[in-house]
Amino acid sequence: MSQTGIIESKLPGDPLELFRHWWADAQDKSGMLEPTGMSLATADAQGRPSSRIVLLKHWDSRGFVFFSNYTSRKGRDIHDNPHVALLFWWDKLRRQVRVGGKAQKLPERESDAYFANRPRGSQLGAWASQQSRPLDSRETLQKRVEELDREFGSDPIPRPPHWGGYRVVPEEIEFWDDGEFRLHDRICYFRDGEQWRTERLYP
Ligand SMILES: Cc1cc2nc3c(=O)[nH]c(=O)nc-3n(C[C@H](O)[C@H](O)[C@H](O)COP(=O)(O)O)c2cc1C
Repeated sequence: MSQTGIIESKLPGDPLELFRHWWADAQDKSGMLEPTGMSLATADAQGRPSSRIVLLKHWDSRGFVFFSNYTSRKGRDIHDNPHVALLFWWDKLRRQVRVGGKAQKLPERESDAYFANRPRGSQLGAWASQQSRPLDSRETLQKRVEELDREFGSDPIPRPPHWGGYRVVPEEIEFWDDGEFRLHDRICYFRDGEQWRTERLYP
C-alpha cells in the first residue's frame, strides 16, 4: 500500500526536491540496513551491461556522487561510455527511484577532501586494491596492505590517482511508489534544457 501516493498537483517542478523527501524517508523512517546503497549499471563500448551496488555519498542539484576505483570494470566502462543508470529500491517504503544520466569524474580537490576523511584502513585499502583485476589469494592483498602501512608510516595518506568520485548528472529520474493491486504510481522527470518535464507512465 502506498505511503502517500503521488499527486500531480503537489509535484515539485524539480525532481531533486521530490528526491529530497524520499531520501529523508529512506534514511529516517525505513530502518533499512543500507538505504544509501544503489545499483549502478554501466555498459561497455560494445553495449554489454553490468551492474553492482555502490553507496551514494553525496547528492545535490548537480547530481549523485559515489566513489570508486577509476581502473575497475565500472571505471573502464564509464571511460568508454559515460551513460549510466542508478537504481534505489527502498523495500520498507516500497519505493523505487531510477536515474539515467552521464557519469563524470569529480574535480580532484573534491575527491581529495573526501579521501582525507576516510578511515586510515580504507585509505590503505584504496591504494592496495586493483579493483576488478584477478587476485591470486587474499594473503597477497593483506601483505600489500601491511607493506603500504609500513611505507606510509605516520604520514597522512594521499589519495591514490586511480581512486576518486563520480558525479552522475541526471537526465531523467523516475519515482515509483507501490500502489494497491499493482496500480503503482510512476512519475518520470525528463530534463529539458534548464527545466524538467514530467510524465505519468502506466505501471
Ligand atoms: C553494500 C555495498 C556497498 C558497496 N559500495 C561500493 C562503493 O561505494 N564503491 C565501490 O567501488 N564499490 C562498492 N561496492 C562493491 C561493488 O559492488 C563492486 O563489487 C566493486 O565496485 C567492483 O565492481 P566492478 O568490477 O563492476 O567495477 C559495494 C558493495 C556492496 C554490497
